[in-house]
Amino acid sequence: MTDPYAPRDYWEQRLSASFNLRGVGHKSFSEWYNVWLYRRKARCLTRALDGARVEDASVLDVGCGTGFFVDQYLRRGARVRGIDITDVSIRRLREQYHGQFETQDISAAGFVPAPAVDIVNMWDVMYHIVDPALYDLALTNISRSLKPGGLFLFTDWFGAPADQRIAAHVQGRCLATHSARLGALGFTLDGLHPLYHLLNTRRLGSLDNILAPLYYLLDNRATTISKDNLSLGVWRKRVA
Ligand SMILES: C[S@@+](CC[C@H](N)C(=O)[O-])C[C@H]1O[C@@H](n2cnc3c(N)ncnc32)[C@H](O)[C@@H]1O
Repeated sequence: MTDPYAPRDYWEQRLSASFNLRGVGHKSFSEWYNVWLYRRKARCLTRALDGARVEDASVLDVGCGTGFFVDQYLRRGARVRGIDITDVSIRRLREQYHGQFETQDISAAGFVPAPAVDIVNMWDVMYHIVDPALYDLALTNISRSLKPGGLFLFTDWFGAPADQRIAAHVQGRCLATHSARLGALGFTLDGLHPLYHLLNTRRLGSLDNILAPLYYLLDNRATTISKDNLSLGVWRKRVA
């Protein structure tokens, strides 16, 4: 079976049509609902970075999209390099932010790693690398981009009992899958952080839009990761 998902075309088209939080977020929800999803991501990031040295740190943001996380790290005093598979993202972010932005595919065999960075940040990108061989290549490229002792943050269905193909462009992978591959590359798990339980899932149709602030407040109170929704994993590259 040929895979109908062609990442570069898919994202170039999607971000060109909507260079906003809906374009990079959940397209089944309104732009307003997506603002709540991103508020929740910002809180989760703050929790995950608690205790980490971010000021003056070098950060590689993989799949930088509309620059939400570029902005989050610049505000914290980090030096940010962003890569994205689309030209539209890179062109727009070069106009908007200080930093180095390059069109690159993290899952490409010819990926040119940045000078080793302190933090690799990759929100809502890993599960869009659906092909298993490309997933392996992406992890190898990330490992080559990170300093020993550096942090790797990314989102996936860590709490799920097994991997699941959710849509043509979404391959959810569980903790066991990531642990096996990242362990072999010399990473240890630093922590799993709850992201969503209620947000990010269609429940009540258009009523969800009204309930977004309530879902947000309840998701902020969660202390465990969801079995059927996204969470954030923080991994540390072992010092040799
Ligand atoms: C769901 S959006 C998330 C954007 C951003 N990280 C955020 O959370 O707002 C996925 C982003 O990853 C980019 N992307 C998808 N596959 C990629 C790949 N293989 N290498 C680099 N970027 C990729 C897309 O162009 C898009 O900007």
